[in-house]
Amino acid sequence: MNQSALKNQSAIKNDYQGTPSFYNSQEVFERFLAGTSYYLGLQNAVSRLVSLIKPKNMLELGFGTGATACRLASEHPHVRIDAIDARANMVPTGEEQAQLRQLDNVRFAQGDLLDYVAENNHLPDFVYMLYVFHHIPDPSDKKIEFLKTCRDKLPAGGHLCIADVFIPETPNKTELESRLLQNWSMRVMEAYSSVFWTALDDVSPEAVARAQQAGRYSMKQEQEAGDLVIRREKEYMVSTAWLVEQAEALGFTVVVNEPVNTVGDSVVLLRNGS
Ligand SMILES: C[S@@+](CC[C@H](N)C(=O)[O-])C[C@H]1O[C@@H](n2cnc3c(N)ncnc32)[C@H](O)[C@@H]1O
Repeated sequence: MNQSALKNQSAIKNDYQGTPSFYNSQEVFERFLAGTSYYLGLQNAVSRLVSLIKPKNMLELGFGTGATACRLASEHPHVRIDAIDARANMVPTGEEQAQLRQLDNVRFAQGDLLDYVAENNHLPDFVYMLYVFHHIPDPSDKKIEFLKTCRDKLPAGGHLCIADVFIPETPNKTELESRLLQNWSMRVMEAYSSVFWTALDDVSPEAVARAQQAGRYSMKQEQEAGDLVIRREKEYMVSTAWLVEQAEALGFTVVVNEPVNTVGDSVVLLRNGS
């Protein structure tokens, strides 16, 4: 790993605010999450839903570097997007990306997502979160409270789109741990292989070595995330079955509940009302 990536890695640790923050700098983000098949798969799915639903206004909860908000703002120029993230230092990162792409339909602000939905009387017609629902900490009542608030504040027919990594549904904790370990070993390999091919920009031995290095870096990040998932430390994943059950009990209609790959990522699209 080069000096600047190492520097970023240590800045990331210092900057940590309640979520694994390998997304803190644009450089690290591009080396890891942005090149993975699973992140791109979720982004593609959300963009597809936006094309089909055609909302006028959208809200992203937990925008990270702003990559998804900027992609959606660019692909759907008639939609206005507000995006919030708990970390104030991500606001300039998002704004810079929007400026580089000359986007005037996306705004970034700092805010806690639970406070934001509680304090705003009306939410826009399409609210989405990508790799963020699992950051709402245990106990699970907090997630239920969040869903309930969204239901109360979304317009009738409005949508909440939860694109995330989910845990398998198992009868007990031991089986869950074993299935998670199995799934995560595939995810780690998927991190390596997808990032290798995204990073490969030449076939010289140096370029191949650089792509391998990027792949190994991503693999390591994913391994660390997997450890946190198993310990339920800072990563509070649920199963899609649990989410759907809660959402239906609150009166949401489950429009879509589909995987985007075999390594745990799915999209659950909920509509307020029938
Ligand atoms: C995996 S990143 C999100 C990636 C981003 N959605 C994307 O598509 O590129 C998780 C983000 O959620 C944010 N986050 C975690 N808890 C939050 C909260 N309670 N309120 C707002 N943002 C939160 C973190 O600061 C972090 O930037």
